[in-house]
Amino acid sequence: MKDAVPQTIYLSDYKPFGWSIDQVDLTFHLHPTETRVVSRMEISPRADAPCDRFFLHGKDLTLIRAEIDGVTITPNMSPEGMTCDVPDRAFTLITEVQINPEANTSLNGLYMSNGMYCTQCEAEGFRKITYYPDRPDVMAPFHVRIEGDAPVLLSNGNPGATGDGWAEWSDPWVKPAYLFALVAGDLVAHSDHFTTASGLDVDLNIYVRPGDEDKCDYAMAALIRSMRWDEEVYGREYDLSVFNIVAVDDFNMGAMENKGLNIFNSKYVLASPQTATDRDYELIEGIIAHEYFHNWTGNRITCRDWFQLCLKEGLTVFRDQQFSGDMRSHPVKRIDDVLALRGRQFREDAGPLAHPVRPEEYIEINNFYTATVYEKGAEVIGMLKTLVGDAGYAKALDLYFDRHDGDAATIEDWLKVFQDATGRDLTQFALWYAQAGTPRLKVDERFDGDTLTLTFTQSTAPTPGQPDKSPQVIPVALGLIAADGTEVLPTNVVELTDATQSVSYSGLSEQPVLSVLRGFSAPVILDRTVSTSDRILLLAHDTDPFNRWEAGRALSKDTLVAMLTGQTAPDPTYLEALLRVAADDSLDPAFRSLALSLPSQDDIAQTLFDGGITPDPTAIYGARNDLGKVIAAAGTDVFERLYDAMAVSGTYDPAAGPAGKRALRLSVLGFVTKIDGGAQARALFDAADNMTEQLGALSVLISNDLANDALAAFAAQWGHDRLVMDKWFALQVMLAAPGGAAQVAQDLTRHPDFNWKNPNRFRSVIGGLTGNAAGFHDPTGAAYAFLGDWLWKLDEVNPQTAARMSTAFETWKRYDADRQDLIRAQLERLQAKPGLSRDLGEMVGRILSA
Ligand code: TRP
Ligand code: ZN
Repeated sequence: MKDAVPQTIYLSDYKPFGWSIDQVDLTFHLHPTETRVVSRMEISPRADAPCDRFFLHGKDLTLIRAEIDGVTITPNMSPEGMTCDVPDRAFTLITEVQINPEANTSLNGLYMSNGMYCTQCEAEGFRKITYYPDRPDVMAPFHVRIEGDAPVLLSNGNPGATGDGWAEWSDPWVKPAYLFALVAGDLVAHSDHFTTASGLDVDLNIYVRPGDEDKCDYAMAALIRSMRWDEEVYGREYDLSVFNIVAVDDFNMGAMENKGLNIFNSKYVLASPQTATDRDYELIEGIIAHEYFHNWTGNRITCRDWFQLCLKEGLTVFRDQQFSGDMRSHPVKRIDDVLALRGRQFREDAGPLAHPVRPEEYIEINNFYTATVYEKGAEVIGMLKTLVGDAGYAKALDLYFDRHDGDAATIEDWLKVFQDATGRDLTQFALWYAQAGTPRLKVDERFDGDTLTLTFTQSTAPTPGQPDKSPQVIPVALGLIAADGTEVLPTNVVELTDATQSVSYSGLSEQPVLSVLRGFSAPVILDRTVSTSDRILLLAHDTDPFNRWEAGRALSKDTLVAMLTGQTAPDPTYLEALLRVAADDSLDPAFRSLALSLPSQDDIAQTLFDGGITPDPTAIYGARNDLGKVIAAAGTDVFERLYDAMAVSGTYDPAAGPAGKRALRLSVLGFVTKIDGGAQARALFDAADNMTEQLGALSVLISNDLANDALAAFAAQWGHDRLVMDKWFALQVMLAAPGGAAQVAQDLTRHPDFNWKNPNRFRSVIGGLTGNAAGFHDPTGAAYAFLGDWLWKLDEVNPQTAARMSTAFETWKRYDADRQDLIRAQLERLQAKPGLSRDLGEMVGRILSA
């Protein structure tokens, strides 16, 4: 039989469900291969949404029985679910199904991880557990009874009665099925308490496998900080007597915000100084906060349909970014966020997978948990806040929570709240949700007499399905700096609405240097030529820390592009300016570390491509290395001093201050190693008492091909620790010299600890290779074939993760004809695979259509 052609779902087809689910009672009889799920639903027809087809989703379920008001019925079954004849009044529907958690390798629905039962229901996993209207606009109160021989039995809401081998849970808050969760297993809790501003006492538990309970302190402290912060900054309190977090090893993404029972990839919970890096700590804090913040932005107010995904994700990312900035450093957080945005979202927006922040069609919704929905979605909210001001934003958010608590809402609802709270017309602004692609902004400067006139021209290239774009509202924060470094115009925000628009500043005694797009006030690409001397002035004197960093990064990029196009050796004035920043002890070490890091290979490739040059990944790798050596030689004295000055002594503390010093010290170590042949790096590797320095030193050794015995020593020390070993697998592939990277990856897939069904381990090796730009694009095509083979294999057990990894091919049109042919061959081979999943099928089809 030929597989059915996957169906496209359209936003414009939205229709409400014709019934309300007034109560859900679920009973689970857990068994590894024969779990029974009994569902009892009280259902009533909705007068406001009449509908004549009662359809419940269901996938891979064995129906045991179905009854309406006690009478057995025979539903009409399809591979996607069941249709029943139902009475024209309130009724009770009981279904019983059997499912096989052990056979579920997709990590979607009810599955097993290390002998523990676990669920993942977002976006459409609940239909693999029982028959149900599995759509976010159907919200109901759930009561759950779990029977199973595990010491810990958890579900959403407040705990109810419990006994030997069973437990009951009641969630008083209505929720969509995607927020359902169940966990059962041999787990231990790390516990604490939180008292809300209103005086509600909340039990906090982080459940982990026995042996991991001493690695939960940091996550718990981060949770408590998040709860307090959401009360203080957004006025949002927690609303149940218990908040549980469970760490699991087999998980497709970072974490999941199930009501009262968040489930986390264990790498974003477990931390100790010896096993987690500063970056891990930072991610744990950010993701704990993200999932907690979803309790209001996602759970209390959810999405009407999956096209509105950015309603909860964009807003929750924006909130977690604000939180992390408050906990650490706003400038450093902003630079990190923009680096991630440009690295993943701009890349997506520039290729065949470009889509609007609110997409209008999809085949598989799991393919739309993207950088565009999350990160660009957060940027859009940042712009909104800039446009209406802090007070307007606060007023709008209060109105949002007030008006939509308990709702399944839309982007129109969200924008209406801002319009009503601030009086601002957002019709044109709404284009940010509808138009894909990164706007390019040209800036023309004219100085005449005492007046500077800036002319801005915006344009957005066509993206799939959107040949023509309209001008968008772009808030451009800018300031002016005089030649002596003083600021002659502090930050002001220019609101662009037209394709071309000018603004003038008079009363200037000399032509100032423009600092434009301060704080990266809009997700756009600036199209302008700036002299080296102007960039150097901004790097030294801009009052906006983001633009100070940006000036240095632009200098590095200009230098690399010049080297790659055969023009010049690095300009000595650039080297001096960079070293002056590195040596400036009045600046935050974390900031200096960022200033010293060169643009990524992928970033340089895209920049060359945008400039009409076909990028050569091997040459880019070489130029970056060469520039590193030049900087190392020019800065030997500075780096030697800093290496000692940035040493942190005493008990390890993951806070931003000491973490920033370690970051700068490790950046410096990269340069020092180019001069000293690895002596310092090896000494640090041997002496390190924390993972940040141990792994940092190991990275430097690998990058300089000095790591063979260090890698062996590391494996001998950490072979028992799965999360640390993920790093060991990843690093060797990511940092391998280009020609041998595919072979390194290939060899690691034969390592006895390479468990390809575990997404973290799969991502370490296969994702590690796709993150090694020059290694992945090695001209032989060995890495392309390697990825093709593994996607082929993984698609049969975990389509969601396979589809996600296929994005490594999204940039293929940047490269030369030979590389394009090699990549096309892999994509076409996958496309022709019998039984290819809807997930990977959609991705491959979209990438090929470039
Ligand atoms: N909603 C989750 C978050 O933003 C992410 C998520 C979506 C997810 N689908 C998932 C997590 C599937 C795990 C598996 O935090
Ligand atoms: Zn989220």
